[in-house]
Amino acid sequence: MSQKTSNEMWGGRFASGPDAIMEEINASIDFDKRLYREDIAGSKAHAEMLGAQGIIAAEDAALIVDGLAKIEAEIEAGTFTFSRRLEDIHMNIEQRLAELIGPAAGRLHTARSRNDQVALDFRMHVRAAFQALEAKLGEFIAALLDKAEAHAETVMPGFTHLQVAQPVTYGHHCLAYVEMAARDRSRCRDALKRLDENPLGAAALAGTGFAIDRHRTAAALGFSTPTRNSLDTVSDHDFALEFLSVAAICATHLSRLAEEIVIWSTPQFGFVRLSDAFSTGSSIMPQKRNPDAAELVRAKPGRINGALVSLLTVMKGLPLTYSKDMQEDKEQVFDAIDSLALALAAATGMIRDLTVNVEAMRKAAGHGFSTATDLADYLVREAGLPFREAHHVTGRAVSLAESSGVGLEDLPLDVLKSLDSRIDASVYGVLGVDASVRSRRSFGGTAPDNVREQVSYWRQRLATEGK
Ligand code: ARG
Repeated sequence: MSQKTSNEMWGGRFASGPDAIMEEINASIDFDKRLYREDIAGSKAHAEMLGAQGIIAAEDAALIVDGLAKIEAEIEAGTFTFSRRLEDIHMNIEQRLAELIGPAAGRLHTARSRNDQVALDFRMHVRAAFQALEAKLGEFIAALLDKAEAHAETVMPGFTHLQVAQPVTYGHHCLAYVEMAARDRSRCRDALKRLDENPLGAAALAGTGFAIDRHRTAAALGFSTPTRNSLDTVSDHDFALEFLSVAAICATHLSRLAEEIVIWSTPQFGFVRLSDAFSTGSSIMPQKRNPDAAELVRAKPGRINGALVSLLTVMKGLPLTYSKDMQEDKEQVFDAIDSLALALAAATGMIRDLTVNVEAMRKAAGHGFSTATDLADYLVREAGLPFREAHHVTGRAVSLAESSGVGLEDLPLDVLKSLDSRIDASVYGVLGVDASVRSRRSFGGTAPDNVREQVSYWRQRLATEGK
C-alpha cells in the first residue's frame, strides 16, 4: 500500500472532524437495528402501561401504539431509513414516531431511559436465542437417535488416545452426543429461568418517581416478575455472558463431532461418507471429497469462544451502573447466535446425511487386539484369576499374537492353554467383537440392547419435554 493511500485512510476520516469521529465510534444502529422487534414490543407495553396508570393520556398511548405498529411494518417492508446520526435503534424509532404522530411521541419516554430499554431489548433477544437453540438441539438429538437406532448393532472401534481400545457400537457412540446435547438443552432452560425478569422500569439507574406498574409490563412482555434492583438491572448483562458460555460449550461439542466426521471420512478410515450435499470437490484434484461443512463446524468455537472472552473482558472492572462499554456486547452475541445456529444446522444435516460403512467399522473394531480386555475378563470369570494376573496373562497372549501377525481369536487353543491351562474352547466365544459388545450390558454400557433401551428412553424424554 502506498504512503498516500494509507494517509488517506487515516487522514481522510479525521479530516471530516470530531463530529464524524464521534458518530463513527458512538453509533450502534448498524448492528442494533436487529433489535427493532423487541424495541417496539417494549415500547408498546410501556405506553399501554403509562396509559393504564394515568401517567399519560389514554389517547396518547393509543396514538403511540398505532405509530409503533406502522414503524414495525416499515422496517419489515424495508422502507424505513436508519440514520447513524440518531445513534441507535431506540432513537431511530422514537424520531420516526415523532414524524408519524407528532408531539404525543415525546410522552413515550416518560419514566424510562435507554438504559432499561436496551437491557430489555437485549434480554428479549437473548431469550429468543435460547429458545431457538433449545428447539434446534431437540432436532439434533432426534437425528442422533435415528442413527443410534439404525446402528444399535454396528460394531466399531472405541478409542482412547485415538488408539483402538475396545469394540463399541456406533449407536452407543451417537448416544454419547445425545447426552452432551441434552445437557446443552438443559443449560438453556436453566438460563431461561434466571433471565425471566423484566428490566423495564429500572429507568436510568434508580427507578422512577412515576407510579409505573412493572408487573403489568412484565406480563405483557412474557416475564414472570420485574427485576428487584434497578442498579443491577442496568449494569449487568450476565444473561448475555450465560448465552455465550452455553454457546461455547455447545459449539465445543459440535466441534468434536465434526472432527470425527473429518477423520472418519478420510479414505484411511472410511467409516462414513457424506453425500455431495455436504462435501466439496477440489478445483485441481478430481479425486478429492472434502468435508468442508464439518471443518467449518469444527472451527466455529474460534468465533464463539472469542465472543465469550471478549464480553467477559469488556465487563470486567466496570463500575456500576451503565457505561457505554456495554454497547460492545451486541455484535459479539449476535455473531455467536448466528454462528451457533449455522453450526447446529450443519451438524444435524450431516448426521442425517452420512452413510455408515458398517464393514469398515467392523473390520477396524477387530484391529489392535481390541478384545484383550474380554480375554482378561474371561480369565477372571472362568478361571478365577485376580484381574491383575489376568491382565498379565492377556498381555502375553497379545504379544504372541502380535509376533505371529494374527488376531487374538486366531491363536490356536494349545497356544492359549500354554498360557493358562484353565483356558478352554469357550474362550473363542469372547474374543470376537460382537460377543464383546453384547457382553457390555452394565448400565450405560455399549451393548446393542442398552442402545435400544436408551433410544426409547430419550425419545420419551424428548416427547415429554417438548422439542
Ligand atoms: N446504544 C446503547 C447501548 O447499546 C443504548 C443505551 C445508551 N444509554 C446511554 N446512557 N447512553 O448500550
